[in-house]
Formats: sequence, structure tokens, C-alpha cells
Amino acid sequence: MAVFPQLRLRRLRRSERLRALVRENRVDVGDLIYPMFVVEGKGIRQEVASMPGIFRFSPDQLDAEVEEIATLKIPAVLLFGIPEHKDEVGSSAYAPDGVIQQAVRTIKKLVPELLVITDVCLCEYTIHGHCGIVVGDQIDNDQTLPLLAKTALSHAEAGADIVAPSDMMDGRVKAIRESLDKSGFQHIPILSYAAKYASAFYGPFREAAESAPKFGDRLSYQMDYHNIREALREIEQDIKEGADIIMIKPALAYLDVIRQARNIFNYPLAAYNVSGEYAMVKAAAKQGWLDERKAVLEILAAIKRAGADIIITYHAKEVASWLKSV
Ligand code: PBG
Repeated sequence: MAVFPQLRLRRLRRSERLRALVRENRVDVGDLIYPMFVVEGKGIRQEVASMPGIFRFSPDQLDAEVEEIATLKIPAVLLFGIPEHKDEVGSSAYAPDGVIQQAVRTIKKLVPELLVITDVCLCEYTIHGHCGIVVGDQIDNDQTLPLLAKTALSHAEAGADIVAPSDMMDGRVKAIRESLDKSGFQHIPILSYAAKYASAFYGPFREAAESAPKFGDRLSYQMDYHNIREALREIEQDIKEGADIIMIKPALAYLDVIRQARNIFNYPLAAYNVSGEYAMVKAAAKQGWLDERKAVLEILAAIKRAGADIIITYHAKEVASWLKSV
């Protein structure tokens, strides 16, 4: 076996051509999913203060945005809805002409080939801001399941290509699979937020989606960030219940979880580069403390190197245009 001075690892780093030739991972536009916030109403196009460059659109304002996304060749969007009406049971989440159902129909009409993924959760739709039904001061798992199943079904009926439950109730993938299959949607995949941690990095999202819990926190359903074995059990469970794609969320502080999942499960693996991760980069770049483009490409490459096939990121549009110009 060669050692120095015969062995010189720097030999393969001498030029960009050489480096590119031996490169182990690449970020490709085709791997990206762009999250979008759709707010009920008309004529709304509002920037999210803590997420520069990210807007909340009413369904009638989606045209230009969706066409830009398609032109950039971003394959998919992930939709979050902000309804006008919130109640105890999140009924706007499964209303046939709820904000997401309207948005899905609009987008599929504008750009039929763009994959539309819908976030399936109740937190934006309940007055208390929790992801499930509240009984006393507890979040009731089993009463929540039929409502999630109903929500996923109504998204599929509106034309969603993939449904993505993010609530972290036990048994939701099974409940959703059964409800889709019973109604002729056997072909609709489930992208499950399989290992979703209770994270401070969701802060900006909750401002954008108006989904912060009004009391308590999400620690009784989202995962404790000290744990990794438990994440593998969550993933295993979702796969058994019928998940087609598994997701780990957040991404950046959880690269070890992504790597472990990649080593163990032969399923397509997504990582969610969440709102707080986006906001940190944007804030530092604005101060001139980071080269934004370099930092973002490094972060996304790290998420791929950890083992993710798919990255959900608010940077998707920027990255798509940067990759185009290289
Ligand atoms: C809803 C949901 C959240 C995110 C995605 N779906 C917030 C939460 O769980 O509180 C976070 C996304 C992000 O921070 O970018 N359950």
C-alpha cells in the first residue's frame, strides 16, 4: 500500500476538472422540493419577516410563482395552508374547498407536471395550534387519526400527487393509507415525516404558518432531540404502516440521523432543511458575515453526503438558478 511520498491525496485536487471527476456527491435540482405557504383570501402576497425571499400567497396569486418554479425545473412543491377559519377539530383542513384544496387545483391546472405534495397536519387549522385533537391538556392520538385520514383524502381528491403527514401521531400512516386505498387512491404515495424532532428551528415557520401552539409545546408527540435509536423505530414503524418515502426533520443538526437511516433502510430518504436553518443563513448573509451562495451549496451538499436523496429547502429557487449558471 502506497504511503507518502508515493501517496499524495492532493494529486486529485489540482484542478476543478479533476475534483469534479472524483466528486462523490452532487446536488441536483431534481432532488429539491420547494415549500410554499398558501393563505386563504384574495390578492395576498406577503413576505415572511423572518424568512426573506419567502412569501405567503393567496391561491389567486400563485401563477407567477408556480411558473417560475417550473421554469427552474424544480420537480415538486410542498404546500402549507393558512386558513381563515380555525376551530377545535381543524375542519378547514379537510374542507372540500379549503385553502390547500384550492391551491392544489390551481397549481395542477397551471403546471400539470409539477408534483404537488401536501403537508397533512392540523396545527395550522386548530385554534390551539396543536397537531391533534386536544382533550383536557393532552393531545389525543386516536381521535386525531380519522381527521388526518380525511385531510389526506381530500388533498388527493383535489389532485395532490403525494401526501405528507407531519403530525407525529402514532398510526397516522396506516390510517391515511387505508383511507386513500378505500377511495381509489392506491396510487398516491405517502411521504411521512417519520423522524420529526421537537425543534427550536421551526420558529420562523410558525410565524409564516400561524401554527405556534397556544399552550404547552409539542414534546409529547415530536421527538426528543437527544435520541437516535428512537428515530430508527419511528422510521421502521412508518415503513411497516405503508410509508413510501421517509423524511428526517430538521436536517442540519441531524446529519447523523440521516446517515443512520440511509445505512439501514432501503427507502427513498428525504431531509427537511427547515425554516430556522434558512433564517440563520439569510440573517448572517445580510450582515455580510457569510457568503450566502457558498454556504447554501455547502449545506445542501452535506445533507446529500449524509445520505439524503431528496432535500426540502426554502433555498430551492436560488439553488436552481445558481446551478443553472455554473
Ligand atoms: C406542522 C409543520 C411544522 C413544520 C412543518 N410542518 C411546524 C411544527 O411542527 O411546529 C416546520 C417546517 C419548518 O420549520 O420549515 N406540523
